[in-house]
Amino acid sequence: MKRNIIISAFIIITLTFSSCASRSKDEVEIKIDDLLSEMTLEEKIGQLTLFTSSWTQTGPTMREGYLNDVKQGKCGNIFNAHTAEYTSELQRIAVEETRLGIPLLFGYDVIHGYKTIFPIPLAEACSWDLDLIEKSARLSAKEAAAAGLHWNFNPMVDISRDPRWGRVAEGSGEDTYLGSLIASAKVRGIQGDDLKDESTLLACVKHFAAYGAAQAGRDYHTVDMSERVLRETYLPPYRAAIDAGSATVMTSFNELDGVPASGSKYLMTDVLREEWKFRGFVVTDYTAINEMIPHGFAKDTADAALLAMKAGVDMDMQGGTYLLHLQDLIDQGKVQEAAIDQAVRRILKAKFDLGLFDDPYRYSDVDRENQVVLSKEMMDHSREAGRKSIVLLKNDAIDGKTLLPLNKKPKQLALIGPLAHNQMDILGTWHASGDASKSTTVLDGIKEVAPDIDVVYAEGCKTYGEDRSGFAEAISVAKRSDIVLMAVGENYRQNGEAASRTNLNLPGMQEELMEAILDLGKPVVLILMSGRPLTIENLSQKVPAILNTWHLGTKGGSAIADVLFGDYNPSGKLVMTFPRNVGQIPIYYNMKNTGRPFKAKDKYTSKYLDVANDPLYPFGYGLSYTAFEYSDLSLSQSTMRLDEDLNISVGVTNTGSRAGEEVVQLYIRDLVGNVTRPVKELKGFKKISLEPGQTQLVEFTISAEDLKFYNQDMSFKAEPGDFLLYVGGSSDADLSGKFELIN
Ligand code: NOJ
Repeated sequence: MKRNIIISAFIIITLTFSSCASRSKDEVEIKIDDLLSEMTLEEKIGQLTLFTSSWTQTGPTMREGYLNDVKQGKCGNIFNAHTAEYTSELQRIAVEETRLGIPLLFGYDVIHGYKTIFPIPLAEACSWDLDLIEKSARLSAKEAAAAGLHWNFNPMVDISRDPRWGRVAEGSGEDTYLGSLIASAKVRGIQGDDLKDESTLLACVKHFAAYGAAQAGRDYHTVDMSERVLRETYLPPYRAAIDAGSATVMTSFNELDGVPASGSKYLMTDVLREEWKFRGFVVTDYTAINEMIPHGFAKDTADAALLAMKAGVDMDMQGGTYLLHLQDLIDQGKVQEAAIDQAVRRILKAKFDLGLFDDPYRYSDVDRENQVVLSKEMMDHSREAGRKSIVLLKNDAIDGKTLLPLNKKPKQLALIGPLAHNQMDILGTWHASGDASKSTTVLDGIKEVAPDIDVVYAEGCKTYGEDRSGFAEAISVAKRSDIVLMAVGENYRQNGEAASRTNLNLPGMQEELMEAILDLGKPVVLILMSGRPLTIENLSQKVPAILNTWHLGTKGGSAIADVLFGDYNPSGKLVMTFPRNVGQIPIYYNMKNTGRPFKAKDKYTSKYLDVANDPLYPFGYGLSYTAFEYSDLSLSQSTMRLDEDLNISVGVTNTGSRAGEEVVQLYIRDLVGNVTRPVKELKGFKKISLEPGQTQLVEFTISAEDLKFYNQDMSFKAEPGDFLLYVGGSSDADLSGKFELIN
C-alpha cells in the first residue's frame, strides 16, 4: 500500500516528463532538458554529489547526516547502502520528500560478488576463461541488483606489475592484452544488453589512470611514466571497457606526470572524451578531489573543486567539495553553469537509462532479493569459478607417483594452517557484503568431497603475530598422518586497498610453521591462499606439491577439495609473475632485452649477483594433472603484407591419462623497431579441452593491427621487419616460428 502511494506520488511528479518506457534517446534528452529547467542550482549540484551511507566506510567521513542531505536535495547519489528494504527507504525520501523527486542512484563495490562471493579478480583472471569471467560479473550484478543496487564500482582494470601493491588482488594482472579482454567481458557482464533490465547495473571502470603503477608498490603513491608506456601498456584496458560501453569511469588517487588524476584535463577530457568519445559520467575516487591539497596541486577545497570541474569530473565521491563550493565558483564566474548542466545531464541520463524515472523502486524488490541472493545458481557458480581459478604450481613425483591428486580411499590426512578453516579469509579482499557464515572452508570441502577420509585439523598459528603456541598440536597432528596439507598465506586484510607489503613471504609465524612440519619428512601439499604472488622460492624447493588457490570466495573450500581429489583437473595459468624475491620487482614477462642481455658467464651483462633473472614462476604458467605436448607449428606464409592476415596453427596433444584443459598461448617478438620492443607480447590464446591421447589443431590469426606500437613520433603503426612467434602453455614457450612483415 505504502509502496503504491510512493509510486503514485512519483508518477505525478514525473508525468510532466511523460512515460519513459518507449522513449528513444532523443526523447530522454528532451526530458532531461525539461528537468534541468526546473532545477535550482543547488539541486543540480546535489546531483553531482555522492555520499556514503554510514554502513561501510573505507576512508574519511567528510560529512554526517547523509539522510538530511538527501532530503534537502543536496545529495543525489548514495553508496554503501544496500538491501531492497534500506534502498527503498532511502529512495522514498528522495522521491517523496524532495521538491522534484529525482531518484537516487545507489553505488557499491561489488568487485567479486555481493553476498555470494566469487574468486578475487586476480584469481579469476587465471582461468583465462572470458565466458566464465563474464558470467561472474553477470551473476554478481544480478544478485546486487536484487538488493537495490544500481551501480557497480567495477571493473578495476589497472595493470599491475608490482605485487607489493595490495590492490593487485582486484585486477587482472600484468598483461595488457589479456587485461583488455577481461575488462570488456566484465562490462558486458555487469551491464548486460540493456540497462533497463532489472538484473543489470551501471559499470564503472577504474581507476583512471595508471593507479597500478604506484611507485614501489606503496598504495596511493606517485605514478610517473612515459606517454608511450601509458598508452601502450596502461590505457588499453580502460579503453576496452569504454568501448564495451562502460557507463561510468572512476578517477584514480594517484598523480600522473605531476597532475593528480582528478584534476587532469588531459585524462578526463582530452583522452576520455575527445579521443575515446566517452559519453557517460566521471566520478572521483573517495575524497580524491580533497586529496589534491596534500598532493600539492590545489591550495584549498574550493581550488580543488574548481580544478576537478575544469578537468571534466562530473561527480564528487564523498569529498563534498562540489556541494560546498560550486555555487560560489559560479558566482565568481570561475565555473559556467553550462558546465554544471552538462555534468547533471550525464548523471540524469544514467538514471533514465536504468529506468529509475519509470519506477524508482524497480531494483528494490524484497521478493526478488530473497530468491536471488545466495541462491543455488550463485553457489554453484562460486564453486565452478573457484575450481577454474586455481593454479597448480608444482606436482613432483615421489617414488614415481605425483602427490596430487589425492585419492579418496581412507587414510589419515592432516590439514594444518590458519587458512584451513577460516570462513572470512577465503572471501578475500573487497568482499562487499559477503556472507562468511555461508563460506565453505578447506576443511568443510574435504569432508564434503572425500567423506571417507580421516582428516584432522590444527590451526598451527595465525596469519599474523608471533604466537607459536599452536605449533605443538600441529606437529602432533602431522606426525599421525600419511599426508599433510598446509593451508597458509595471507588473510583477507593483508592485501587489497591500503595493504602494501615489502616482505612477500608468508606473514606471521607461518614460514616457521611450514619448516617445523617439513622437518617431519612427511609428504606435504602447500595450499597457498593470497591476494598477490608471494615469494615462496624457499618453500617451493622443499614441498613436492603447490596449489595456488588465491582467495576463492564462498565455495572456495569445495573448489579446492575438487582439485585436491581430482574431481576437477586444474587448468589455471598465472596472470602475474611470481618473483623469487622482492628485489626482482618489478618483474614481468614482456620486459625489454637491454643492450647487454643476460649471459651467465659474462659479468658485464644485465643481471644480479645474488639472484637469477628469471622468475620463480612466469606469467602464463600452470600445470595440470595431465601433460600437453605441442608440435607442428605452421605459419600460412613466411612473409605477410600489411593488409594480409597470417594464419598460425599448432598441434596440441594430451599425452597423459586424464582429460584436461590447456590454455594455448601465442606470443610475438618484433625483432627491430623504431623504438625497442618487448622480448615477448601475448597476442592470442585459446582454452581447449582434450581427452587423453587426443590431439587438436589450434589456430590463430594475426594481422598488422596486432603488430602496432607507438613509434618515436607517437604514431601507432606496424613496422615492416622480422618477427618471432612463440606458441606454448606459458610465456616461456619456446616452440617458435618466424615471419617477415612487408609493405
Ligand atoms: C576507494 C577505492 O579506491 C575504490 O576502488 C572504491 O570504489 C571506492 N573507495 C568506493 O568504495
